[in-house]
Amino acid sequence: MRRLVIGNWKMNLTLADATVLAGEVANFASDFATLQIGICPSFVWLVPVREHFRFTPHNFFLGAQAVSSEPHGAYTGDVSAEQLKGLVSHVLVGHSEQRRFRHLSPQDISSQIMQVTQQGMTPVVCFGEPQRSLGNTVATHITTSLSQDLHGISSEVLQKCIFAYEPLWAIGTGAPASPEYIESVVRQVKRWFSDQFSVDVPILYGGSVTAKEAAELKSIEEVGGLLVGGASLHAKEFKDICARFGGHV
Ligand code: PGA
Repeated sequence: MRRLVIGNWKMNLTLADATVLAGEVANFASDFATLQIGICPSFVWLVPVREHFRFTPHNFFLGAQAVSSEPHGAYTGDVSAEQLKGLVSHVLVGHSEQRRFRHLSPQDISSQIMQVTQQGMTPVVCFGEPQRSLGNTVATHITTSLSQDLHGISSEVLQKCIFAYEPLWAIGTGAPASPEYIESVVRQVKRWFSDQFSVDVPILYGGSVTAKEAAELKSIEEVGGLLVGGASLHAKEFKDICARFGGHV
């Protein structure tokens, strides 16, 4: 499977800026054929961004930043997986900002995974420890909360998911985890998936990723890709990240 680089635009960019940036990313995506490159604009820009393209390279995709836990109904302000179907191929599930500001429960996470997979899209399920000080117990903390998030989810469904390891202390702080730290956590979590569910799931890294981290993580085979926030808002920086991670400058 191709490694992924996904830009999470969060609540940023005007429509004009979003369409320009999306066009730039789609243009350079075909230079990095070893990668799958995606962007997650705000919900409101998904349709205009999509309509803006006359064609997109096969390794470029659109994603959504969140989804409702419910299939439809009286949930003012929310967007369902069914509504996203046909617009995006990937959906972020359980991003730490969603967990924090929307108070998502583990049950919400598992419902969202089910909603997204039932509509034929790929959930990108985010997880990560709250504090750096957890040290050696980090993998235990992560797998304990993952087992709650994934309660009732079958191996068959898990096989359709991508995961993103995003230590909360590294998101938006300019202080990414070190490559050794990331490698160790990702390796342990992958082993847990294999032992518990007999699945080999791709795990991306996210948290203050810049071109420097992209270059360092390139050679770590366990890291299936990158989830990039702040640096994905600038075409040149995002392209640099793809170039360093995808192996061609
Ligand atoms: P950041 O955000 O790259 O700005 O740290 C990453 C994320 O929240 O997905």
